[in-house]
Formats: sequence, C-alpha cells, structure tokens
Amino acid sequence: MSQITELKFMREFIGVCAEGYRLGWHERNGGNLSYRMSDEDVASAKEFLQDGAPWQDIGTEVPGLKNEYFLVTGSGKHMRNVPLCPEENICIVKVDETGTKFQIQWGLVAGGRPTSELPTHLMNHEIKKQLTGGAYRVIYHAHPGNLIALTFVLPLEDKAFTHELWEMATENPVVFPQGIGIVPWMVPGGRDIAIATSKLMHKYDVAVWAHHGLFCAGPTFDDTFGLMNTVEKAAEICVKVKSMGGKCQTIPEKGFVQLAKDFNIELNS
Ligand code: 13P
Ligand code: ZN
Repeated sequence: MSQITELKFMREFIGVCAEGYRLGWHERNGGNLSYRMSDEDVASAKEFLQDGAPWQDIGTEVPGLKNEYFLVTGSGKHMRNVPLCPEENICIVKVDETGTKFQIQWGLVAGGRPTSELPTHLMNHEIKKQLTGGAYRVIYHAHPGNLIALTFVLPLEDKAFTHELWEMATENPVVFPQGIGIVPWMVPGGRDIAIATSKLMHKYDVAVWAHHGLFCAGPTFDDTFGLMNTVEKAAEICVKVKSMGGKCQTIPEKGFVQLAKDFNIELNS
C-alpha cells in the first residue's frame, strides 16, 4: 500500500465527511466523526503509524478502550477539507493503558488536536463496544438544520420527540426502533455533556443535543451515516408539515403495532 488514504476504512471515513458536508450538515468546523479501528485496520496501517508524540489527557476515563486505535477528525478542521487533504484534517490516535490519555500516531501534519468532542466520542464508543460485543465502531456528530430547528419546537422529551419523528415516514420506526434520546442544552466540548450523552447511548443509537445537533452510533459507516440521514429526513418532513399548518391525518397508532409485528422489531414506545 503506497498511501494510507487508500485503505478501505480511510476511504469510507473520508466519504462520510464529504457527503455530510455536501448535505449541509457541517458548516465551518461543525460536526466530527470517529471510528474504532479493528485489529486488521491497525495492521494494515501499521507502516504509517508513529510512536513518540506526547501523551495527552482525554479529559475523561475510558478504561474499556485501553490500547484501542481511533481515526478521528481534528478540532477546528472543516469537513469540507477532509477529502482535499486528509493528513492535515484527521488523525489516528491510540488510547493508553489507563484509558485516560491519547497519542497522535498519524495525521494532523500541520498541527492540531482531535475534536473537542473526543470525551463524548470515546465514552459513547466505550459503552457501545461493551453493549454490542465490539460490533459498533462508528460515532458521528453533525449539525443538521431541520433537526436543530425542531429542538426549538418539539418537547425536549425522549418519547414525544421519538414518536413525532417515527410518524414522519412509515419505515422510520424500523430504522431507529429504540428511539431517540435528548440531552437538554449544555455547554459542549467537555466531560459533563459526554456523561449525559453516553448515558443515553445505553438505550439509544441516536442522541439529540438540544439547539446544537445530533450524535449517531452504529456498526458501519453506512449504518451510521444512514441513521443520521434518516433522522434528518424525518426532521425535514416534520418542519414541512408544521410549516403547512400541521397534520390533518397520520399513521394510526395500531399501524405501529402492525409494523413492529411484520418487521419483527421491538418498538421502544
Ligand atoms: P470540533 O471542531 O472541535 O470537532 O468541534 C465541532 C463541533 O461540532 C463541536 O460540537
Ligand atoms: Zn457540534
């Protein structure tokens, strides 16, 4: 392999950054993405990784992620620039033996540090890794406009918010059957919002940050990006419906029961 950016996980990661930007979810440096690398990913990237950079505080403790490697966007970097110059805008970090520090082993060649939301990303990864037996690998944060708009209008309550977005398209309950959790407005970028978000990740794959954006978790880039896309599409329909004066009719309550039965899913309603 002549370039690290030719590796599949790299191409997929860069693809999500590019597509999220194209859809308008990443103004300026808004949003961030992280991927927990598999042993095979680490082996395939090994020739490009370097030991020796200083160990820095994560700002929280993630003992369940000790010695794991993550591909992550840089703080203050623009998603728009990730495909143009990956080595300046994203990095690979290794978590230390204690789960309290990280070391940059590749990327951010013009300087910088991983996203300011690293505590939330890593605490979410830790809980999802444990809950899914290692299957979940992607955490994605975006600022999609319709979803943010709804946090000014819908009740900031998990059940009500979930039900409203389930109603906006028949297959939505199939895509996010566990529903959506809501973090009330908080100062971003630290341990407190990381704790609040990771608590919701015990129950949900989607966590709204009121008046800010959305976090999604999933096993693959496709699943996680698709989840973000589905929730934002639901929010867009909701904004349109409210702008047209509100619902005149909707999916009947027994329709959800039938859907759950036919699609063999458990709706957390
Ligand atoms: P970063 O540039 O540090 O990733 O922050 C962007 C953001 O969306 C904060 O919530
Ligand atoms: Zn943000």
